[in-house]
Amino acid sequence: MPGYLVEDQRKVTTKRLQEMKQAGKKIAMLTSYDYTTARIVDGAGVDVILIGDSASNVMVGNATTLPMTVDQMVYHARSVVRAVKRALVVCDMPFGSYQVCAEDGVRNAIRIMKESGCDAVKLEGGVEILDTVRKILDAGIPVCGHLGLTPQSINKFGTYAVRAREEEEAEKLVSDAHALAEAGCFAIVLEKIPAELTARVVSEVEVPIIGIGGGPADGQVLVVDDMLGKNNDFSPKFLRRYADLFTIMTDAIGQYVTDVKSCDFPNAQERY
Ligand code: KIV
Repeated sequence: MPGYLVEDQRKVTTKRLQEMKQAGKKIAMLTSYDYTTARIVDGAGVDVILIGDSASNVMVGNATTLPMTVDQMVYHARSVVRAVKRALVVCDMPFGSYQVCAEDGVRNAIRIMKESGCDAVKLEGGVEILDTVRKILDAGIPVCGHLGLTPQSINKFGTYAVRAREEEEAEKLVSDAHALAEAGCFAIVLEKIPAELTARVVSEVEVPIIGIGGGPADGQVLVVDDMLGKNNDFSPKFLRRYADLFTIMTDAIGQYVTDVKSCDFPNAQERY
């Protein structure tokens, strides 16, 4: 199925994302965790598909992203990779897979790439994980950074509120973004920070900056289940809902239940 919104059907690469930033073309990124959804997301023209560790919340029902394992990420990523023809596929490295030491990080990044077939990995954090980021890059694996609200550190900060409102934290974020870009990250996700700070990073840092709850940037990312309105009890200010799948699916399934119970389904045409 072709991406009906895009003329350029070539496989998206990290180099192309850089060219898009230079040309002022915006990058559309969404998460996916399964084959069927990834096929639709890719076909609709999304440039980058993220197998986010948000799978922990939306697929598994956990309160945080922390329980996800490398095995689970590989399982989801493999399902997505099978569906994707055009988008660049990025897989989150889950909590615990890169925080102990750089060697662990490299080993797990290689596992994720080898076993899932994805194109790149994403890690949360700044200078504190720089050595690991460098070594993963040295292994030939493209890395996407992630700064601002970093859900894997929820227990350290104790809140999902907007980050880097204070000058000290904002300055650290800017220097982290420079450090990640200079190390060779192909893009950086900035989550839930003031729009002015995002604008500063976009103008100062040469690699594409992808925002989520951070205002305008070189591109945007959302969790696919959230933007499709599958989750009716999550509505942060930054989220735009493009559909109300919660209602559509509930109505459709409710109708199915009614039809089965009333013996309306299957009818004469729906049998052999
Ligand atoms: O896990 C995830 O879905 C993410 C995005 C919100 C950026 O990291």
